[in-house]
Amino acid sequence: MIKVVIIGTGNVAYHISKAVLKNKKLEIAMICGRKKKLPTNFSQDIAYSNNFKKIKKADLYIICINDDNIFKISEKLNIDKESIVVHTSGSTELNVLSKHNNYGVIYPLQTFSKDKEIEFSNVPIIIEANSKLILSRIKEISSFLSNKVLKCNSNQRTFIHISAIFTNNFSNFMNVIAQDILKSQDIDSEILKPLLNETIDKLNFLTSKEAQTGPAARNDKITIEKHLNLLKKTKYFETYNALTKEIINLKNEL
Ligand SMILES: NC(=O)c1ccc[n+]([C@@H]2O[C@H](COP(=O)([O-])OP(=O)(O)OC[C@H]3O[C@@H](n4cnc5c(N)ncnc54)[C@H](OP(=O)(O)O)[C@@H]3O)[C@@H](O)[C@H]2O)c1
Repeated sequence: MIKVVIIGTGNVAYHISKAVLKNKKLEIAMICGRKKKLPTNFSQDIAYSNNFKKIKKADLYIICINDDNIFKISEKLNIDKESIVVHTSGSTELNVLSKHNNYGVIYPLQTFSKDKEIEFSNVPIIIEANSKLILSRIKEISSFLSNKVLKCNSNQRTFIHISAIFTNNFSNFMNVIAQDILKSQDIDSEILKPLLNETIDKLNFLTSKEAQTGPAARNDKITIEKHLNLLKKTKYFETYNALTKEIINLKNEL
């Protein structure tokens, strides 16, 4: 059994801990975090400590900490020379872990929230390592967790992360705006659900470019002006205007 220590108690730590628990070839030695107790949504059978000096021996240490603190936490870790340390960040350099002998990245390309379960075996994992030997070890371990494992360099991984931000973070924020606009008119945002579902489903049949509709795609100037006039006094004017221009440009390129 490959022994794993998970560092952090946030969204990614939660989902990785569930995936590791499910796998017969992997075993969680402990979770280490800064909270006094392991949050209740985690399996309470897992050993836990908030004292880094009490960290257990393991084959693999997975740092699931916010990007800006990965280096600091890695520097605190005193582990065996043979062990591997990885982080799970899309945009953090591999070499922030260079204090250790064997290190790498296991970046799961998905949006994780503690309150939403996920089938981890469908999550693509982007891997990187400081040597060929460690890469093959990380590849083997990642393949226990996911059916799709892809090797990339740090630069490619960052561009994957930027793409993921457009696909998920920004598109989700568009829905935050949509819901706020409906709320201002006392309309239940549930009315948008079928449209939201179709927006995703359509991409199983068409490319994103082919799927683009709306006043900007048709260049319906009168409608666009009407919307901009209504949004003039809101904080969403610039966003509507900028995205409309981009869609018109896209249509002109086609
Ligand atoms: N969420 C995603 O969708 C996603 C997807 C792919 C990759 N990632 C990557 O996975 C990593 C973790 O993301 P996440 O979404 O799980 O973040 P998160 O839910 O915000 O959790 C961050 C964890 O870091 C801990 N932490 C923050 N500052 C710390 C410090 N100074 N010392 C010790 N612990 C500290 C937090 O502790 P407290 O809870 O006590 O604050 C928490 O356990 C990041 O590198 C992120 O880029 C995230």
